[in-house]
Amino acid sequence: MSHKNQTLGEFIIENQTEFQYSTGELSKLINAIRLAAKVVNHEVNKAGLVDILGTAGDTNIQGENQQKLDVLANEKFIQTLKNREIVCGIASEEEDDYITINSLDENHQNKYVVLIDPLDGSSNIDVNVSVGTIFSIYRRITPVGTPVTLEDFLQPGKNQVAAGYIIYGTSTMLVYTTGHGVNGFTLNPAIGTFYLSHPNMQFPETGKIYSVNEGNYIHFPQGVKDYIKYCQKEEGDRPYTSRYIGSLVSDFHRNMIKGGIYMYPKSSKAQKGKLRLLYECNPMAFLAEQANGKASDGYQRIMEIQPTELHERVPFFCGSKKMVEKAEEFMKS
Ligand code: AHG
Ligand code: MN
Ligand code: MN
Repeated sequence: MSHKNQTLGEFIIENQTEFQYSTGELSKLINAIRLAAKVVNHEVNKAGLVDILGTAGDTNIQGENQQKLDVLANEKFIQTLKNREIVCGIASEEEDDYITINSLDENHQNKYVVLIDPLDGSSNIDVNVSVGTIFSIYRRITPVGTPVTLEDFLQPGKNQVAAGYIIYGTSTMLVYTTGHGVNGFTLNPAIGTFYLSHPNMQFPETGKIYSVNEGNYIHFPQGVKDYIKYCQKEEGDRPYTSRYIGSLVSDFHRNMIKGGIYMYPKSSKAQKGKLRLLYECNPMAFLAEQANGKASDGYQRIMEIQPTELHERVPFFCGSKKMVEKAEEFMKS
C-alpha cells in the first residue's frame, strides 16, 4: 500500500509482528496512546476559546508553576491510558509519585508502564506556539500479579519498548518508535484520523542548526561555551543558525527534519541541567538513535544511565550524530 493513504490504525496492524512480545500488546499500547493523543489534541486546539489558558495556581513537585493545560493534559492522558488492560502504572511530570493502575486489573496482570511529560513547552501555551506530549514505555520488571513498584519505572532508557511524542503544531503529528525506525503520522482533524505522512524519519548526518537557551551562556561549562563559539565561527559551513523554540518536542522535531543539535547543558544555576531523564531525555534519545541521530549527557549515552529518582534531571545533547559528537569533543577538552 502506498504510505500516502495509510492510517495509523492500519500501520499498527501491518507492523505488529515486528514487536518482540505478543503482537496484540503492541497494538493495544499504541492504540491507547493514539486515543490519548486525540483527546489532548482536542483540548489544546481550543485553548484560546475556553478558560484553560493561564496558571492553575499550583506548583508541581519540581517547583514549576502548573499551567491549566498541564493539569488537563495530565488528567486526560491518565484517564485514557487507564482501563485499557495494558498499562499497570503511569509516572508523570505533573504527579509527585507514580500511579498504580488496577481498576480493571485487580490481579495486576497488565505488563507495561508509561512515563509522560503530558504538556511539554508549557511556557508556549499562552502564546499559541507549538507544544507537545512526550511518552516512554517499558515492560515492567517485577512479576505480573503483584503491584507495580518504583523499580519498574527506574529502568535505563535502553530498556524502552516504545517511545514518541505528539506535536501540536501547524498540524498535529504523532511520531513514535518501537525500535524499528521512526515514523510520523499527521492528524486529519476533520475526520480524527492519523495518516502516515513521514515514513522512516532520519536525522541528517550533520546540520546547520543549534538550539540552546543562550540566555544561560555565562553559566554554562567551558566546553559548552567553546562549542557555541565553534557554531558561530565563520569557517567551512559555519556559522550555523540558532533556533530555539523552548519546547523540546518542537526543537527536536525541526532538527530531525532539517539537521541540527539541541542542548540543555548543566549550568552553575542548575547542576544537573533542567530536562528530566525519564520522560523527556530517554524517549527523545530512543527516537534520536532510531533516526540515525545521537543523544548524550555530554560524556555518555543517555540510554545507558541508571536512573535513581523519578524526576531526576540530566544534561542533554541530542540531534544529528556528527554535531553531537563534536559537542562531546568540546566537553572532553
Ligand atoms: P515543560 O514545559 O514540560 O516543563 O518542559 C520545558 C522544557 C523543554 O521543553 C524546553 O526545551 C525547556 O524546558 C525550555 O527551558 P528554558 O525556558 O529554560 O530554556
Ligand atoms: Mn517538558
Ligand atoms: Mn511538561
